Amino acid sequence: MRKPIIAGNWKMNKNAAECRELVKELLPKVKDAKCDVVICVPFTDIALAAELTKGSNVKVGAQNIAWADSGAFTGEISAAMLKEAGAEYVIIGHSERRAYFGETDKSVNARLVQAIKCGFKPIVCVGETLDEREGGKTETVCKTQVVGAFDGIDAGAAKDVVIAYEPVWAIGTGKTATDEQANETIGYIRSVVEELYGKTVADAIRIQYGGSMNAKNAAGLMAQPEIDGGLIGGASLKAEDFSIVVAAAK
Ligand code: PGA
Repeated sequence: MRKPIIAGNWKMNKNAAECRELVKELLPKVKDAKCDVVICVPFTDIALAAELTKGSNVKVGAQNIAWADSGAFTGEISAAMLKEAGAEYVIIGHSERRAYFGETDKSVNARLVQAIKCGFKPIVCVGETLDEREGGKTETVCKTQVVGAFDGIDAGAAKDVVIAYEPVWAIGTGKTATDEQANETIGYIRSVVEELYGKTVADAIRIQYGGSMNAKNAAGLMAQPEIDGGLIGGASLKAEDFSIVVAAAK
C-alpha cells in the first residue's frame, strides 16, 4: 500500500505575511489528514513555513535545489541552505523550470542526485506538452524524462522519490486530464520504473498527478488506482481548497 502524498506548489506566490496567514488557516484543516501533506513554498518563505508548521503534520519543501554543494552559481540555493532553512522536500524539474529556465533532463538528473545525496525527499516532475500528446508522443516523452532524471540512481534511493506526472497542457489552464487519462499515463510511468528497477520499486514508488487538480476533481482522480496523490498549484493557495484536496487522499 502506497501512502498518498498531496503537495502544494505555491510557485512564485505569497510573501511572509501571506505565508503566515495561509499556514495558520491550513494547519487545523488538515491535521487529521490520512496522507502526507507538503507545502513547497518560495525560498524566502521556507524558514517561516518551517517554524509555523513545527510539530504539525505539514512538511515544507523547496521548488528547486542546486546540483553543487557551494560556489559560483549565481541565483542558486544549495542543499545545505535549504536544509538549514527547514526544507525536507524539494520539487525538481517542474515544467515551468524546463520551459522558462532551460532545465533539461541532464540538469534535472544532477539536481536529483544532489537532493538524494543530501537527504531530501524529491518530487520529480515529468509530463508532455499539448503538441506532444496530440502527436501521440506522451509515452515517449514521459519515458525519456523518467529515464533521464533517474540516470545513475540506485533502486534503494529511487523507491523513495516521488514522481509528479504533470501534463503541461493541464497546468494552470483549468483543463484537467480526465481521471482515466491521468491513471493510464501514470500506470505507464510505473511500467517504466519497473523496467528500470523491477516490480518491488515500481509497486512502492509514489506517482502524483498534477495539473489543475482542485477541490472539485480531486476525489475522482484520487479514486484511480495508479494515482498516489497530487501536486497542486493554484488550489494550494487557498486553505479551504487545499484542505479539500488533502481530504480526498485517503
Ligand atoms: P496547477 O499547477 O494546479 O495550478 O495547474 C500544478 C503545478 O504546476 O504543479
